[in-house]
Amino acid sequence: MMKGLKKWRLFSLLAVLTVFLSACTGEDYISTLKPAGEVGEDQYDLLIFSISIMTLVVVVVSFLYLYAFTKFRRSKLGDKHIPKQVEGSHTLEVIWAVIPIILLLILAVPTILSTYKFADVKAMDEVDEEGNKTALTVNVTAKLYWWEFEYPEQGIVTAQELVVPTNEKVYFNLKAADVKHSFWIPAVGGKMDNNVENVNKFWLEFGKESEGLKDGVFYGKCAELCGPSHALMDFKVKTVDRAAFDQWVAAMQATEGQTASVDSTDLGEATFAQSCLGCHAVSGVGTTGAMGPNLTTFGDRNRVAGVLEHSKESLENWISDPEAIKPGNLMTGKYSELSPEEISAVADYIMSLSVEK
Ligand code: CUA
Repeated sequence: MMKGLKKWRLFSLLAVLTVFLSACTGEDYISTLKPAGEVGEDQYDLLIFSISIMTLVVVVVSFLYLYAFTKFRRSKLGDKHIPKQVEGSHTLEVIWAVIPIILLLILAVPTILSTYKFADVKAMDEVDEEGNKTALTVNVTAKLYWWEFEYPEQGIVTAQELVVPTNEKVYFNLKAADVKHSFWIPAVGGKMDNNVENVNKFWLEFGKESEGLKDGVFYGKCAELCGPSHALMDFKVKTVDRAAFDQWVAAMQATEGQTASVDSTDLGEATFAQSCLGCHAVSGVGTTGAMGPNLTTFGDRNRVAGVLEHSKESLENWISDPEAIKPGNLMTGKYSELSPEEISAVADYIMSLSVEK
């Protein structure tokens, strides 16, 4: 009776796992199993390759087990039967030592080659005749609980939504401002840690434009447990063709000097200048190191605070009580109480910030 129960338990566990694992195939904006770009595709191929080898081992071992299980039954051979003794057999020992070594070598060679290929960032230092860097570099700073993206060659900085051109290598300098985080765009490649004490470098290639995806963006995640809002530390990636990227960069550069004034007749702008501007810039021209996310492109983004629907209502909820949405975030308690009227006006102002409209 007990044995039967155990069997059923195991069976239901497997059934549940099947349902969960089949869900892993997922959507193309976030799934590692639907790679978009060279790194993601290579990582996917490695995954399939190693699983195939492991499956082969499981199949062969299972076959040998079942073979011995049926062939050497006591009911078939009798109580007295002693099979051929093979203890200390030189041939057998060589076979079961050499086969795993060969399998490990087959696994190791492509893995090591790929690892070195993904870590090859020599092109980051290459310059053209005029001394300009030829490769596109983005400095990523992970902060509790948001992401800052600086484009040092272009002199621009943004947050929460990374914009990159398709079909070329984009190089990343990864660091963290406070605790350890990890930069991961599941469908495109990664992950790599953002550390406080050193800069990690790698490259990614974005194989398709994000416009056709469900939300028009790839999803990025923090992949290192970093605090109570770790699971909410998302970012988005907009991938566009080179011409559209250059256009975006020019639009960002054109926001140089843009600011909010306390004297504005617009209540939203005046409130923003009073309560928000100390931490949040509204010009995309600048460098890394801001207290809060740069809001120049806020109206173009896909989410509020990385996770909420992109609407004025979400933004009002966020400004009213950020702690309720992202526990442990650094905005909690940073500004004085605003009236509902001021919150509504400031939300209108922030939603109007855009370089694409
Ligand atoms: Cu940042 Cu997890």
